[in-house]
Amino acid sequence: MNGIRTFHDRDGTARLVCFPHAGGNARAFSALSAALPDDIEVHVVQYPGRHERRGEPCAEGIEDLAAEAAAALAGYDDRPLFLLGQSMGALVAFETARRLRGRAAVTRLFASAARPPSEDWGEPDLDALADERIVGELRRLGGVPEPVLNEPELVDEALRQLRADVRALRRYRCADGAAVTAPLTVVVGSGDPKNSVSQMRDWAQHTTGGHVVETLQGGHFALTERTAEAAALLTRYVRADIGERAVDGERAGGAAPADLVREILVAGVDGRRPPLSTDLTALEEAARTKLAPDAFAYVAGTAGSGDTGRANRAAFARRRLVPRMLRGAVHRDLTVRLAGQLLPAPVLLAPVAAQTVVHPEGELATARAAAEVGLPFVLSTFSGHSLEEVAGQSGRTPRWFQLYLPSDRAVAESLVRRAEAGGYTALVVTVDASYLGFRPMELDNAYSPFLRGAGIANFTTDPAFRAGLPDGADPVAMVRRWAEISIDPAIRWDALAWLLELTDLPVFVKGILHPDDARMAVECGAHGLVVSNHGGRQLDGSTAALDALPAVRTAVAGRVPVLLDSGVRSGTDVVKALALGADAVLVGRPYVYGLGLSGQRGVEHVLRCLLADLDLALALTGCASLADITPDLITDERFRPSLAK
Ligand code: FNR
Ligand code: LAC
Repeated sequence: MNGIRTFHDRDGTARLVCFPHAGGNARAFSALSAALPDDIEVHVVQYPGRHERRGEPCAEGIEDLAAEAAAALAGYDDRPLFLLGQSMGALVAFETARRLRGRAAVTRLFASAARPPSEDWGEPDLDALADERIVGELRRLGGVPEPVLNEPELVDEALRQLRADVRALRRYRCADGAAVTAPLTVVVGSGDPKNSVSQMRDWAQHTTGGHVVETLQGGHFALTERTAEAAALLTRYVRADIGERAVDGERAGGAAPADLVREILVAGVDGRRPPLSTDLTALEEAARTKLAPDAFAYVAGTAGSGDTGRANRAAFARRRLVPRMLRGAVHRDLTVRLAGQLLPAPVLLAPVAAQTVVHPEGELATARAAAEVGLPFVLSTFSGHSLEEVAGQSGRTPRWFQLYLPSDRAVAESLVRRAEAGGYTALVVTVDASYLGFRPMELDNAYSPFLRGAGIANFTTDPAFRAGLPDGADPVAMVRRWAEISIDPAIRWDALAWLLELTDLPVFVKGILHPDDARMAVECGAHGLVVSNHGGRQLDGSTAALDALPAVRTAVAGRVPVLLDSGVRSGTDVVKALALGADAVLVGRPYVYGLGLSGQRGVEHVLRCLLADLDLALALTGCASLADITPDLITDERFRPSLAK
């Protein structure tokens, strides 16, 4: 008897091992096991002292339970292994994952209804509490069926196990700096009387693999009571992680991004040249001559006199790298984990509206190129093709959805539900465009793509949007309705709270420049930030994004990832942004020029050049991984001591 039970016979592609709560037994997971799909095998740990192990004494400590489980699971690594713990079970799962290191790799740890291991859980001493008091508390929390609580013999048995488990819990002390390498998904019930979302943040210090907090509707036992929702959430993570492993496997041993240089030079011997310039700053001029003047003006344009647009570039130019030598960075790891998702490099494609104005395939071509290179494409709310059509082009590469919250919240909710159903794995809510900025290049041409019907496909295909229009409404009526509701000029912080309540997807807030706004967003529960001034298109005269980054980084204090966009044009720009505190960057106009000039191939060219330059920049600064990119690699030209005598 190895203490591990199954309820449903499955030959899955993944194994999920579950750890029950204090006083609980394996049966607590039978309904969740039933709700999970056939590709996920569910195994549940039966602690000693209960059910078929009733004759054995209960364990004295969490560590004993973990040591037993780790021994039992050592042979379970023939397929990806996931651990899931409920309440006290989360501590057992955490300690088990630590003990499994080197024996069986844990792909992901799920911790439900549990505070971080380093925290005092404040559990009362049950040995000093009368049975009735404990039963009252069990009723309040749920999790034990009422008939059991009314049966004295069963109550005696349940209290014996619970008291033993709580003794173990009270004795538990997490070792200093104890952390797992597996990524972590923390699950908490929105109405859990014992735990709150804000208490979950410090789980971050217990993993080096990144952590995400997910809420489920329900109380302390939301995980095992709201089985449909819980199963959907777990399945999403398990399948995404398995997909990643497959993609990683395919890439392992593949070409390094910097190999592009050799590829281009070798092709040159046969007289072939790259399709576009490899200097991504040169693409704007190429696009100016090739794109329709209106479309070019829309993409290249900035607000006002272009002050902020120029400041974005100047901020990068002012920082210089001070590379380190003789470090032999031959094998470079560019991967980064964001919101639990593994990316091959710290680069995403920024949301850019109405891409059909530069190329008829628009976002479809961009999504294919992004998938080809393996980088997430953040699809704009205002895309030229519907989010479902674009999803169909992304393959297994993670896709994100940028959300402008329409003032008609029924449309907002519908967009979110469609993004969830379409397999988008994160939302980016943009907060710096409650109005579109004063943009002379667009105004001088009296041109808006939207009023010409481009960039509104997510609305014309939306049932909630169409419900606000008479049957058979013509395109002019659609555009007029879009203009009325597509952006909410009155948007305030409560809208962010509303969105976070609405969805289980991780939500990044884009357009943050002030450290106090960064703090507000994190306090609301945002899962990440994008420091951005919208590529200088919104408030002219606002600070360069790169200049705003360090203070935001400090304000966030590592609680959530911080991304940056606005002015990134090269691999060395990416290194500078990371050295100043970004976890990843988004790139906007360069890939849109690539799309306009050469379609999918043009986007791929831009992305591959950026990654090759980034890979080489790591090599030339002596960095073997992104963690080696530290602030001391940067000097600020403004503050450089004069070398003149
Ligand atoms: C944008 N951007 C943008 N952002 C967003 O959140 N939703 C959107 O629909 C759009 N649309 C859009 C259209 C065009 C033509 C451009 C150029 C930009 C802003 C974009 O996501 C990003 O913040 C900037 O483009 C980054 O700056 P660079 O890389 O273009 O300098
Ligand atoms: C723009 C909007 C749509 O920058 O974000 O044009």
